[in-house]
Amino acid sequence: MNPILSDILHIIAYTTLVLFGHRIFLGFYKIFYVYLFSKPKNLKKLSGGANWAIITGSSDGLGKAYANELAKNGFNLVLISRTLSKLENVKNEINEKYPEIEVKIIAFDFGKFSFKDYEKDIFPILDKLDIGILVNNVGQMHKYPDYFHLFLGGPEKVAELVTVNTLPCTILTSKILSKMVERKSGIIINISSASGYHEMAKWSIYSGTKRFIKHFSACLHKEYSSLGITIQAVCPMFLATNMTHYSVTKTILSPEALAESAIKTLGHTSETAGSIIHEIQAIGLSFPSFFVDPFISILSKTQKQKILEQQKIK
Ligand SMILES: NC(=O)c1ccc[n+]([C@@H]2O[C@H](COP(=O)([O-])OP(=O)(O)OC[C@H]3O[C@@H](n4cnc5c(N)ncnc54)[C@H](OP(=O)(O)O)[C@@H]3O)[C@@H](O)[C@H]2O)c1
Repeated sequence: MNPILSDILHIIAYTTLVLFGHRIFLGFYKIFYVYLFSKPKNLKKLSGGANWAIITGSSDGLGKAYANELAKNGFNLVLISRTLSKLENVKNEINEKYPEIEVKIIAFDFGKFSFKDYEKDIFPILDKLDIGILVNNVGQMHKYPDYFHLFLGGPEKVAELVTVNTLPCTILTSKILSKMVERKSGIIINISSASGYHEMAKWSIYSGTKRFIKHFSACLHKEYSSLGITIQAVCPMFLATNMTHYSVTKTILSPEALAESAIKTLGHTSETAGSIIHEIQAIGLSFPSFFVDPFISILSKTQKQKILEQQKIK
């Protein structure tokens, strides 16, 4: 064989081996090391002793589960969500279980964006606290998967969904980072979704905004990890919450199970599906589109049918 051609083939073979080996190593690390062998880090240490945690979208679902888990770990809480009565219930539940934990609640609609409202209703409270953890959890999904031009609620609802899914995370992160940088410690958890791993037809806004959160977190991780700040994107598969109306199964986890599992991975990985079962499921989403898309198409059809039947919309 021509020696130049032989050299080129060797280079291609070794490069393929290195790239493949790197992916296999990363996969093993993210699944086996993170979930089976690593020990949970001390959150108080990662947050530099600052003992307040802020959680958005915390009156229900995953946000409420993170709030409970962080209270269990000894953090005082600022809960921010839309509905005051639901926030009051969560505060009471947490105070019953953990009477030593201080809980502040802020009723705030992240969908009606006005920066002045952040300055009036949220920032003055945050300014007075020593914030160790920010959980950017608030998020909304469309009622059901469909063509973008048929999105229920039209352009106005599209604007609300993009606003809720992207702005609170970026604005609150920007607000609290300076103090974390000064302290050289702090934790920021950004709740993305496994839908951010793959371009999902008929889920364009949800999948696109979740991709934004995942990508934004990865950039921040590169900027701030050397400054002592832990930044993590959590990208779960389906959870049994109001968002999906699913019940718990072996693969559809309760928000409590996901939060408990995901918190243990802090400081070990900057991106995770949040649980070993979701991490394994998410591997499927990294396969080529011609393989994944037919499954997503079936999922979209059945989800739309199910929701339309539930709501008796024709
Ligand atoms: N469920 C899943 O299968 C799944 C999977 C992957 C990722 N995620 C992500 O996990 C996060 C939480 O989802 P979830 O399933 O826990 O949802 P959920 O059960 O519907 O809870 C959403 C929470 O966000 C609050 N919220 C919604 N819109 C708001 C707004 N405009 N302003 C202020 N608060 C608002 C809700 O408050 P009110 O009750 O007062 O409206 C509620 O506390 C989201 O970012 C979601 O994308 C969910």
